[in-house]
Amino acid sequence: MNIVKTYPNVAVLSAAAAELFAEKACQAVEKRGRCHVALAGGGTPRLMYELLAKEPYCTTLPWDKIHVYWGDERCVPAHHNLSNQLMARQSLLDHVPIPEGNIHPIVYENSPSTAAEDYEKMLRATFEGQIPQFDVVFLGLGDNGHTASLFPDTDVLKIQDRWVSPVYVAEQDLYRVTLMAPIINQATAIIFLVAGSTKAQVIKEVIEGPRDSTRLPAQLIQPGNGELYWLLDHEAAALLNLETRYL
Ligand code: 6PG
Repeated sequence: MNIVKTYPNVAVLSAAAAELFAEKACQAVEKRGRCHVALAGGGTPRLMYELLAKEPYCTTLPWDKIHVYWGDERCVPAHHNLSNQLMARQSLLDHVPIPEGNIHPIVYENSPSTAAEDYEKMLRATFEGQIPQFDVVFLGLGDNGHTASLFPDTDVLKIQDRWVSPVYVAEQDLYRVTLMAPIINQATAIIFLVAGSTKAQVIKEVIEGPRDSTRLPAQLIQPGNGELYWLLDHEAAALLNLETRYL
């Protein structure tokens, strides 16, 4: 079920996203005693993370029962400024009482394949061999239609038998590691955060356009039984048909 919500600007969008996460996290903890959340990288989520690091969330959320993962990671050292883990630690995790054992980064040392294999092993152990069902997965959207590190026209889109995979992104000359779409799609709630006029065209194509998931991998994100939220600022939603905006 597509739920499209639009907001005047990224600040209001981020406040709504923080509130939505708080609601979903508390529901998960109440229901299952834990919340498994996969964080998005890139720049858009930073403001939401910073809001979650402040009152009321930093003291009211059950951080000891929240387990944090990443939807993808760049193959750089953990202290590198491109690291999604570093961004999340600096904007959120270093400022809330979450036990270090609840933080599950994608660890890259010198091999993208090893990083992906190790992450998959960790997931298999954590979810006791069952296909992972995250309570919340946050995602961003690139202006070329990628999400997580599922980039257009890359071999990673054809892989069926892996939960986590390395991917070489030629336009960035960078290896990354990503959760695969079937794993993301198991989530109870998938939340896209998309802001800015540069995303208006790709948002229209992904949400309203014909399916072409090789060109627009974000279209692979179709939760089985979960909810799919598109939290957009007005600039990103500008080209959507009116009826889509209020789905
Ligand atoms: C990453 C993200 C990536 C990101 C999009 C949007 O590691 O870069 O996983 O998929 O979400 O590129 O990035 P912005 O939010 O910076 O536009």
